[in-house]
Amino acid sequence: MKDRFTGRPAIVTGAGLGIGRAIALRLHEEGALVLAVDKNPDVLAALPQSGRIRTLVADVTDADAPAAIVAACLEAFGSIRVLVNNAGLGNAPAFHETTEADYEKWMGVNLTSTFRLTRAAFDALLASKGVVLNIASTLGVQGYRRQAVYSTAKAGVIGLTRNLAADYGGAGLRVNAIAPGIIATPQTAARLHTARFYATIVGTTPMGRPGLPEEIAGAAAFLCSDDAGFVNGHVLAVDGGQTSSAYVSDAMVQCWTDAHPDAD
Ligand SMILES: NC(=O)c1ccc[n+]([C@@H]2O[C@H](COP(=O)([O-])OP(=O)(O)OC[C@H]3O[C@@H](n4cnc5c(N)ncnc54)[C@H](O)[C@@H]3O)[C@@H](O)[C@H]2O)c1
Repeated sequence: MKDRFTGRPAIVTGAGLGIGRAIALRLHEEGALVLAVDKNPDVLAALPQSGRIRTLVADVTDADAPAAIVAACLEAFGSIRVLVNNAGLGNAPAFHETTEADYEKWMGVNLTSTFRLTRAAFDALLASKGVVLNIASTLGVQGYRRQAVYSTAKAGVIGLTRNLAADYGGAGLRVNAIAPGIIATPQTAARLHTARFYATIVGTTPMGRPGLPEEIAGAAAFLCSDDAGFVNGHVLAVDGGQTSSAYVSDAMVQCWTDAHPDAD
């Protein structure tokens, strides 16, 4: 394991489960001082005990959460070097079923909280020449059935990422995003247990499997480290090749073979 974050304070939201947990643990393993934020105290309590992990129970959509999160990190560690905006919610309703309350809920946790927490941490991040990493989604860069408000929010996260990178790269702040494909976490567990989801979604991913939270964490650690010192405004798909390919199912290959039986 590398040691790229020794002594560097990092905030990770949604750090109790899934992708956020894996990122928090990876940064910690590489020496970071981690403020793990989650709305669920039980999952925070299950994180490893370490003097370099502090926890804060906070719902990132609460009005006073950004200031509280920033204050907790400054009080515990004295600065903010890394901010990972990971807390988010998928499984949104279809566009025609999306109520005003649904809209506020999915935009609030996926986009508004990212904007507001980054704004609250901005001065500290500029002072440390820090790094922001936003967890977007492949659904923020491509269309999908249902999930309109989720896709809208994640596309907004990507827009925010690129704008901040353009505005503040010159001041030494790097801002990037990861667009995960299907990752095996509590959020996707119900779908991943169905054979049909595997056949239609996972099976049409070139690597033929869901990703692991640790595979997002590896990419996150790279983007937050000095190894990515000239990477700014980038949206890194970590999706087994899904967004870079089309029509990769075995059924498509069979159709092709059947239609062209004499082809070499
Ligand atoms: N799992 C996937 O396939 C996938 C794909 C693309 C993008 N993503 C994105 O990755 C991020 C993490 O997803 P996951 O699958 O690990 O989710 P998850 O539901 O498995 O875990 C999310 C964690 O965030 C916490 N959280 C949720 N809302 C919060 C809030 N308002 N305030 C504070 N904490 C909150 C939860 O308590 C939980 O611990 C999300 O932004 C999600 O949209 C996930």
